[in-house]
Amino acid sequence: MSDALSRANRPIGLFDSGIGGLTVARAVAQRLPHERLVYFGDTAHLPYGDKSTAAIQAYAVKICDLLLRQQCKAILIACNSASAAAYELVREYVGSKARVLNVIDPIVAHVGRHFAGRTVGLIGTKQTVNSNVYKKKFDALDVGVDLHSLATPLLAPMIEENFLANAVSNDIIASYLANPALAGIEALVLACTHYPLIKPQIDAYYQGKVAVLDASEAVAAHTAAYLAAENLLASPGPTPPTHHFYVSDYTPAFEESTRLFFGQEVQLELYPLWE
Ligand code: DGL
Repeated sequence: MSDALSRANRPIGLFDSGIGGLTVARAVAQRLPHERLVYFGDTAHLPYGDKSTAAIQAYAVKICDLLLRQQCKAILIACNSASAAAYELVREYVGSKARVLNVIDPIVAHVGRHFAGRTVGLIGTKQTVNSNVYKKKFDALDVGVDLHSLATPLLAPMIEENFLANAVSNDIIASYLANPALAGIEALVLACTHYPLIKPQIDAYYQGKVAVLDASEAVAAHTAAYLAAENLLASPGPTPPTHHFYVSDYTPAFEESTRLFFGQEVQLELYPLWE
């Protein structure tokens, strides 16, 4: 087997603070059904959205060591907070051993193409919003996107508790979206792994007047384009690939939540990275 071929058949590594990144893994698995995924959810340190940049960077580097030991050909940071806090550092750390991808650049490119010169809203964790990373990237694109961001820290725990479409969740969603910071937007970026699960409720709030953008689709498309350009697409095998889903702390509740985020329940394997 040639080097390029054996590299192509290595897995894609993904990591997140927990199981929310499974929305990204799901989009990647649907788009690239022949790719083997190795997913790491750092459930021992959940949530990243309230952590310092330094803490997230330290976690991310150690998780990348694990994914490199698993021979991953690419590492996708399947978490907005970690992409905001650690992408540059991780990219430098991993070097030529694997390509590092994040969940921010593909949606920034998409917005730049479709909403140039427009007012665009963004919701995410405190870490993501306070990092200002989206604003910096839009400013660098220089296509006149006027970004209005709002931290919405109640949404991720609410979704984890399966509060998606009831009176309480609808009230919380409406109260965030009515914030003056988001007035006059024409599109809204869902800058958190959990938010695709409440996209129908957000769409209902805006009644079609605002384009609600689920980044996971753009991320999966970007991953596919990168692998194709580098000749790194896995060749189809006789059976579907076997994915691995590791977590740094295991509870049955995490496993049950995989159904919510991945669309089907998957078996979580405990990998006590921090012991
Ligand atoms: N995965 C995180 C993100 O996308 C949300 C959950 C957390 O705060 O850890 O920002």
